[in-house]
Amino acid sequence: MVRQHVNPLSSFFQLERPLPPLQELFQQPERPLHLDIGCARGRFLLAMAPLHPQRLHLGLEIRRSLVALAEADRERLALDNLRLLFANANVSLPPWLAALPRGQLQLVTIQFPDPWFKLRHHKRRMVQPELLQALATALDPEGELLLQSDVPMVMAHMLEAVAASGAFEPADGGTWLAENPLPVPTERERHVLRQGLPVYRRLFRRGRSWQGLHNPIGIPS
Ligand SMILES: C[S@@+](CC[C@H](N)C(=O)[O-])C[C@H]1O[C@@H](n2cnc3c(N)ncnc32)[C@H](O)[C@@H]1O
Repeated sequence: MVRQHVNPLSSFFQLERPLPPLQELFQQPERPLHLDIGCARGRFLLAMAPLHPQRLHLGLEIRRSLVALAEADRERLALDNLRLLFANANVSLPPWLAALPRGQLQLVTIQFPDPWFKLRHHKRRMVQPELLQALATALDPEGELLLQSDVPMVMAHMLEAVAASGAFEPADGGTWLAENPLPVPTERERHVLRQGLPVYRRLFRRGRSWQGLHNPIGIPS
């Protein structure tokens, strides 16, 4: 599998590109929302959207060419409850989440994020406390965050970031999920399972004591 990473910390990807509000993306923008961050070619969401027609599904992906391919498939399949957007989630998502109606965000999936193995590249990893705090602030109290990876050190990094965010609590009894709770595996997940390799999965809810971010978009005081 050839991978073409982009550096999310480069000045081009640090430009804030505001994401459109749900009213501009969906015909029925008040429905419960599923957010998939790092959706790549979108095949997971293209399969999830018809299985959960009562939900809106929004995919974010930093590689524009993949978004174009996924959006073309979405249009061909006439899926009006799915959109896939080009964005650096770390930059564009927190202000967008701050404006989202409370209770609408029901599910967040972050699946097999880029590992960025070298120590000096760890800061390029997508799962960071700031993003997690913004997600928790928008997440419905009954909503869920699903994390998956096949790389133990990446899973460990995500769990450390979740703990450091102070915003989530385990929804899985604090143990690994043996099965994917969702009906569709991602592309990376299929690839890993075909090789007979393990997948690490954890499920979280918003922490009961989490009060939300008072200054979620980082406006200097
Ligand atoms: C290893 S792939 C996994 C794709 C898919 N979730 C799966 O499981 O098959 C990780 C994806 O996250 C995207 N990505 C990495 N950093 C991102 C960021 N800051 N914002 C949005 N997407 C990002 C990458 O371009 C890549 O397509």
